[in-house]
Amino acid sequence: MEYISLNNGIKIPALGYGVFKVDPSECERCVTDAINVGYRMIDTAQFYANEEAVGNAVRKSGISREEFFIVTKIWICNSGEAKAEESLKESLRKLQTDYVDLLLVHQPFGDYYGTYRTLEKALADGRARAIGVSNFYADRFHDLACHVKVMPAINQLETNVFSQQTEMRELLSQTGTKAMAWGPMAQGKENFFDHEVLKAIGAKYGKTASQVGLRFLVQQGIPAIPKTTDVKRMKENIDIFDFVLDEEDMTILMTLNLHDKGTRDYTDLTYASRIIAQKF
Ligand SMILES: NC(=O)c1ccc[n+]([C@@H]2O[C@H](COP(=O)([O-])OP(=O)(O)OC[C@H]3O[C@@H](n4cnc5c(N)ncnc54)[C@H](OP(=O)(O)O)[C@@H]3O)[C@@H](O)[C@H]2O)c1
Repeated sequence: MEYISLNNGIKIPALGYGVFKVDPSECERCVTDAINVGYRMIDTAQFYANEEAVGNAVRKSGISREEFFIVTKIWICNSGEAKAEESLKESLRKLQTDYVDLLLVHQPFGDYYGTYRTLEKALADGRARAIGVSNFYADRFHDLACHVKVMPAINQLETNVFSQQTEMRELLSQTGTKAMAWGPMAQGKENFFDHEVLKAIGAKYGKTASQVGLRFLVQQGIPAIPKTTDVKRMKENIDIFDFVLDEEDMTILMTLNLHDKGTRDYTDLTYASRIIAQKF
């Protein structure tokens, strides 16, 4: 495993396992498989309703807690200092741990300043080793970064070969914040797994399209958290540390950047009305 240093000195594994849309009933088995295959970073969230299953798998693995890197995120309906605090206690209870390695504000809605103050408190009292945000685009990120005590260590964004976040990464570099890739395989969109360019580059190294797409991220210092419920694919996705994409291939992959900022527009009316409908 390769590691990436965060702005507070903590090292994050370059690759982890994500559990968005992994059914709570299946999640413990999936995380156990992922651990057995070698994953030590697990990315969950209050919203995914599977923190307890993650906690069970980690505890039952028999591997010491220090070897894991557990990420969770405070959901919008728990925004604000007091609610975020209560929800953090609940997350730690479900995860069966005294601390998380990375604690994020999931989306820039609600009283996320209050939520962030709870994160700062958790960092200070050892319940989080690093803190950050997710889906904070330029305006919200810039605004938050100007008014908090602790700079976010991470901004977890939709990042993959088709959405490379080059502009956001430039902005983040000003605060020492690292981008972390959700949807690192574009959730299969744009024919990711059968993409001719990814496959052709992969053929040079004896690797698949997913391995090329994931290597492209980690080689640029972007931690990625691919999701799959299939153990064969878990093995495939983590098997990216025995090759290096050469400069020519990196340059070709950079040309695949179809929509730099990602495919989800948080300022879009449809998305806004979905958020309002949740009545947080
Ligand atoms: N912060 C946020 O707002 C946010 C948003 C979305 C996701 N995330 C995090 O990021 C993680 C990953 O993102 P994601 O799940 O949206 O997308 P993703 O990892 O890019 O893609 C997942 C999809 O790819 C398939 N897949 C995985 N490996 C494969 C392989 N080697 N060959 C063929 N198909 C493969 C999976 O299907 P199978 O499961 O059937 O294999 C699933 O349909 C999530 O699990 C979550 O932890 C965070």
